[in-house]
Amino acid sequence: MTRICLKVLIGILVASAGMIPDRPLKAELEVTPIEQGRKIYRQQCAACHGLNGEGKQEWKRPNKQGELPAPPHNHTGHTWRHSNTMLFNMIQDGWRDPFNKTGRLTMPAFRNVLSPGEIRAVIEYLKSLWTSEQIEFQELENVK
Ligand code: HEC
Repeated sequence: MTRICLKVLIGILVASAGMIPDRPLKAELEVTPIEQGRKIYRQQCAACHGLNGEGKQEWKRPNKQGELPAPPHNHTGHTWRHSNTMLFNMIQDGWRDPFNKTGRLTMPAFRNVLSPGEIRAVIEYLKSLWTSEQIEFQELENVK
């Protein structure tokens, strides 16, 4: 075999190795923030806010202690009215309705449970439950 032939052969081998499609495999392994957020939501939030973000029934009515049940996060709720920063703080530090008669945090703080990146992923998942109008509204809240 001449040198040229060998070079051509090596060239073909290198080129065909490059054509082995590794991209689709990588894409399958990559998890989007929404998917990561959905997983976290199901583990940490669904027990109170519902498997698909539907909230508790009668979520607008406070109980005897003046505490509000967990609201929906889908388009029927009001989560979309809050900016990213507000949502982040509510999840990290917990939240209670200011009119609650007890000082208890009805919405528990996730500071010691979720990393900042995980909180942001959950917020991305919540956004996937909103209408396009709600997403637009919320984007304006973010630049205020
Ligand atoms: C133990 C039950 C419970 C768990 C678990 C829980 N929440 Fe809540 N959450 C509540 C309650 C109750 C409220 C309403 C508090 C109030 O307004 O007084 C609330 C309120 C909120 C709010 C404010 C909603 C709004 O529209 O004002 C956000 C955002 C929120 N929760 C996100 C989450 C996320 C994300 C998780 C999971 C990481 C989670 N919650 C887990 C009970 C829970």
